[in-house]
Amino acid sequence: MPISRRSFVLGTGAAAAGLALGPGLLRAPRAAAAGGKASWLADTVLYQLYPQSFADSDGSGIGDLRGIVDHLDHLQWLGVGAIWVNPIFPSPLTDAGYDIADYTGVNERYGTQDDVALLVEESRKRGMRVLFDLVAGHTSDQHPWFEQSCQDDRDSRYIWASPDQLPDDGTLPDSFVKSPGPRQGAFYKNYYETQPAINYGYARMNPDEPWRQPVDADGPRQNREAIKQVMDHWLQLGVSGFRCDMAGTLVKDDPDKAETAKLWAEMHQWLDTHHPDAVLISEWGDPAVAVPQARFDADFFLQVSGPGDGAVWRSMWDENPYFGADGTGSAKTFVDAFNDAREKIGEGGHIMLPTANHDTANRLNNGKRTPEELPAAYAFLLTWPLVPALYYGEEIGMKMIEGLPDVEGSDGRQRNRTPMQWDSGPNAGFSSAPADKLYIPQDPDPNRPTVEQQRGDDKSLLNFIRRLLQLRKDNPELGTQADVRVFGDGYPLTYLRGDRFLVAVNPRRDEASIDVPDSRVPNGKPVEDSGVRIDGQKLTVPGFGYGVFDLKS
Ligand code: NOJ
Repeated sequence: MPISRRSFVLGTGAAAAGLALGPGLLRAPRAAAAGGKASWLADTVLYQLYPQSFADSDGSGIGDLRGIVDHLDHLQWLGVGAIWVNPIFPSPLTDAGYDIADYTGVNERYGTQDDVALLVEESRKRGMRVLFDLVAGHTSDQHPWFEQSCQDDRDSRYIWASPDQLPDDGTLPDSFVKSPGPRQGAFYKNYYETQPAINYGYARMNPDEPWRQPVDADGPRQNREAIKQVMDHWLQLGVSGFRCDMAGTLVKDDPDKAETAKLWAEMHQWLDTHHPDAVLISEWGDPAVAVPQARFDADFFLQVSGPGDGAVWRSMWDENPYFGADGTGSAKTFVDAFNDAREKIGEGGHIMLPTANHDTANRLNNGKRTPEELPAAYAFLLTWPLVPALYYGEEIGMKMIEGLPDVEGSDGRQRNRTPMQWDSGPNAGFSSAPADKLYIPQDPDPNRPTVEQQRGDDKSLLNFIRRLLQLRKDNPELGTQADVRVFGDGYPLTYLRGDRFLVAVNPRRDEASIDVPDSRVPNGKPVEDSGVRIDGQKLTVPGFGYGVFDLKS
């Protein structure tokens, strides 16, 4: 059964629902000229890659580091600047590797530390960087830190309630799990029961919960230092930063997130001194808080948490989405939240909006959309002042596949984790293993999209995305640092980038028109155009259409 998005909660951010800035449609947020250490991030394109499912080099049926190296040319060709690799560390795999048993090791099914060094080096040669996942909030219950904590009543690296602090009737408070022993009592879990929460303390004390410790107690302080050592290990190997798992939830009972923000700001300060070029990207879901307050270099709008508990992401892709053929959605929720976040962030960092991820942010090709609907989505995503984030396979429109078996605690999320489709060979070129040995079964459709087939077709989604990324690279007006002025957030979503590129996207089935208050429109030069009609200053965009026009040519 698919998991409900509500069961996948990252914690609510400080900025709650209702971020509308006002009724006006014309907006020109100030440029977010990220300077200094995060400057490379401003101009990059992030590609999220699920290592189990990307490419298998040794015929095991499971993707690995050498497999990624073998396909770096594809990413370079596409225009990717940085890859984020989901966890590759030793793990009992009760949550596909988000249950870490050794932070500085490599799970042998993925390869070795030498393979990490090779990946970094081969990426560097191609002008790309590598980011890892930093799962600071919890370990596996098989991590030596936890095993030690289970032996020693005085150990406070995890959150423990002792027997005298627990109810006499044997019930446990929310999120607590009975100790596996020999220590008596219960520990606090972060996600699954196999994932004990590392103790970063509580933002406030509560006499009813005597196990709470302040953020500067011994255990919490030791943990901050330990996580810095984890980062140091990988940064020394050449990794360029981290995507920080469940970043907004480290300090418990922190309603305004102030203590959690201070913790990450401390981490960032440490990076500034020791690894000034490295970046931290948060899984927080509330860029207006995570970037200016917690000092992340970027944060994602996600399907959960943040304004409206994921409402911004869902309003675009999922729940009566703006990108839906019926045309009953609106881009206003997104535009307002984006403007609010950009205003608060100023020059301090960036905003990301993935189309999909390995969790419950389902693939764009989710069974409701048809492939012809996808280009309009990318015309928007790659011309908006976000750092673009692509999930593997999205560049060819891979399908979300229902009805697959649960794998390694995927709990429904396997539908977004099927192996990459490279070519028309066996297992779509993912692996030489027998099909029944693959990590997750592949899309069984004989006409499933592949990289090989789309590379040879100028009209393919893959080539379209590549052209847009190149356009963005060649023209700073389309990057993160130039203004965006929105003319309409209904259908078509129409905006001007850097006072030069006019973009109109119409994700609905029916055509849509808009009068654009700019006298240059009649002479605009189409750069990418699916058949937009221009009549004076009026644009009419066909169903599922888009247009990018250069008004300064
Ligand atoms: C967020 C990760 O994206 C997800 O895959 C994982 O299950 C949870 N954190 C718990 O680590």
